[in-house]
Amino acid sequence: MFYGGLLSLFTFVALSDCARCKKRQDVEDVPSYVMDYAPVVHLHTADAYRPASIEQHLEHTQPEVDYVSVSEAPSPLTLENLSSLNDSGGENVYLTSTDNVEDHPDWLFGVEPDNSGKIEGAVSCAVIVNDKGNGLVDAFYMYFYSFDFGGVYLDFLNVGNHVGDWEHNMIRFQDGVPKYIWYSQHSNGEAFDFDVTEKYNGTERPIAYSANGTHAVYAIDGDHAHAIPNLNLDNGIVEDHTDKGPVWDPTLSAYYYSYNASSETFTAYGNSTPVDWLYFKGHWGDEQYRDSNDLQECFLDIDGLCKYTNGPTGPIDKQLDRKEVCPDNGIPCILRKELGP
Ligand SMILES: *[C@@H]1O[C@H](CO)[C@@H](O)[C@H](O)[C@H]1NC(C)=O
Ligand SMILES: *[C@@H]1O[C@H](CO)[C@@H](O)[C@H](O)[C@H]1NC(C)=O
Ligand SMILES: *[C@@H]1O[C@H](CO)[C@@H](O)[C@H](O)[C@H]1NC(C)=O
Ligand SMILES: *[C@@H]1O[C@H](CO)[C@@H](O)[C@H](O)[C@H]1NC(C)=O
Ligand SMILES: *[C@@H]1O[C@H](CO)[C@@H](O)[C@H](O)[C@H]1NC(C)=O
Repeated sequence: MFYGGLLSLFTFVALSDCARCKKRQDVEDVPSYVMDYAPVVHLHTADAYRPASIEQHLEHTQPEVDYVSVSEAPSPLTLENLSSLNDSGGENVYLTSTDNVEDHPDWLFGVEPDNSGKIEGAVSCAVIVNDKGNGLVDAFYMYFYSFDFGGVYLDFLNVGNHVGDWEHNMIRFQDGVPKYIWYSQHSNGEAFDFDVTEKYNGTERPIAYSANGTHAVYAIDGDHAHAIPNLNLDNGIVEDHTDKGPVWDPTLSAYYYSYNASSETFTAYGNSTPVDWLYFKGHWGDEQYRDSNDLQECFLDIDGLCKYTNGPTGPIDKQLDRKEVCPDNGIPCILRKELGP
């Protein structure tokens, strides 16, 4: 009796303390500033497509090259063997939905965060830390969704949907101090002085607003018209909308890695964290449906105005070893000192 009581008391104390310690267990070697300054995401109120399990996405897709399934693919395909597809088509591999997406299977919609901001039971973020030496560290916070609803042109034209969606923030630290933050948006994005960003509920953590449907990340809420040079009709987007919808704390269900740029290798911080999938060079969704596919509609037969486009490539293709805060894509890197759309 006495021992039992003591044991339950002990268990109670250990458990109540453990919401915190459990989280830290897996990430104890991650630099503390990577956790302390990690973005907090506001999803859009009206968005049907929430962050999704990176692992479960594989269970609902099959690899295809030129619309034909890859016969030599491992079965089952998992986060531990995904990169074997590099030898079966590399960047031409498309993880293709085994369901008709217009049947709206549950998995496309991802998982709603709970009251603590956690996506329970679905790891939907990968944090990748690139220590560049001399105190310079770039931390990438990669966000995963199983579907991107491209948006509506001219009030009637739904353009740019695709299976699989990767977006990210990158924070550049110098000696543990956050200096700049990058927000990915379609083919490009925006960089800001870290200090000017809006912070979450009295913390040091910057807010990232995830746009309705497309999940492009912005520093403020409201409407975001895409101005030249970032306007990219291929992505099918004219305007994004963000609001203070449900709070998602990506760090509560994430995989954590360091990235060695000279050897181009990823190392997990936690022993049980899968690594192999990060080397996969292919796409995380279906290849753009052919015009002959019943699901496809291309306005005036214009290739850039199709309802369905290609699924995106993964974290390895996001320029993890940047010179500038922005990826190098020929567009000047503006380090914004004021918030804006
Ligand atoms: C928001 O996105 C959903 C898809 O997730 C779409 O059905 C809806 O029309 C969008 N709403 C607005 C206001 O853009
Ligand atoms: C792929 O991974 C699964 C589970 O991790 C394993 O059972 C299977 O043998 C792997 N296949 C290959 C070819 O590595
Ligand atoms: C594909 O992944 C394998 C690991 O399975 C890796 O060794 C190889 O370098 C990758 N291929 C390419 C072209 O990057
Ligand atoms: C905001 O911070 C206050 C003070 O730390 C805390 O009591 C409250 O629960 C927080 N609200 C949210 C939504 O996290
Ligand atoms: C990164 O990889 C290079 C080349 O393999 C190696 O010399 C170096 O020690 C590695 N750096 C770290 C921090 O592991």
